Amino acid sequence: MSEAFNLETQEEWTRLLLMSKFGIDEVETKLNIINDEYHFLHAYNPIEHIISRNKSPQNIMEKLRRMGLEPTLENAKQHLNDIGGIRVICSVIEDVYTIAEQLERQNDITVLTVKDYIKHPKPNGYRSYHMIVEVPVFLTDRVTPVKIEVQIRTVAMDLWASLEHKIYYKSGIQIPKELQQEVKQVADAMAAIDQRLCSMKSEISKYTT
Ligand code: GTP
Ligand code: MG
Repeated sequence: MSEAFNLETQEEWTRLLLMSKFGIDEVETKLNIINDEYHFLHAYNPIEHIISRNKSPQNIMEKLRRMGLEPTLENAKQHLNDIGGIRVICSVIEDVYTIAEQLERQNDITVLTVKDYIKHPKPNGYRSYHMIVEVPVFLTDRVTPVKIEVQIRTVAMDLWASLEHKIYYKSGIQIPKELQQEVKQVADAMAAIDQRLCSMKSEISKYTT
């Protein structure tokens, strides 16, 4: 019988996704507190908005297959760090690093990996700050550590990434070199806008403080 049709296994899948949701809720609360306190102290919101999601069992199994692994619950638990994901959108780059630092310094958060695609963009032009964090989830009879992928990026980076994701990422289609260059050029234009916004913000702050 295939694993997906076994009732007991189905319950285990539900539990896995539920734990992941609890992890998302915890990290999201932390992010909201950082944002609200920042607003209280500085009358400024570093976060524009937050989106979170759990991967569906189907997407989990597809990813395991792409990784050359059997699409089992055990493999999902063992090999995937991004079943629960949170995307934090900020207006300027400075805020991306503020949020990352504030999250990192919290005692109950363990940062497992960081990939700074802002300082080191991917060849296609992708920019974003990625962290895999682990948070303790307190259940009635135990405490379970849960891994969550946090992507932090600016509105400009997000605009590019959302479009690129819809069109190319993981779809496996080959696009002509000229088009690849254009995609990269648009990413670079977004990076230039981020730079300008950053200078503009510091100029404006001279008049407001
Ligand atoms: P995945 O197998 O996609 O999870 O990649 P990974 O485990 O090597 O991690 P990485 O940090 O590189 O990417 C994690 C996530 O970032 C992806 O699932 C996407 O949501 C996003 N991402 C990474 N690279 C790109 C990219 O080139 N374009 C877009 N649009 N999104 C990307
Ligand atoms: Mg991933």
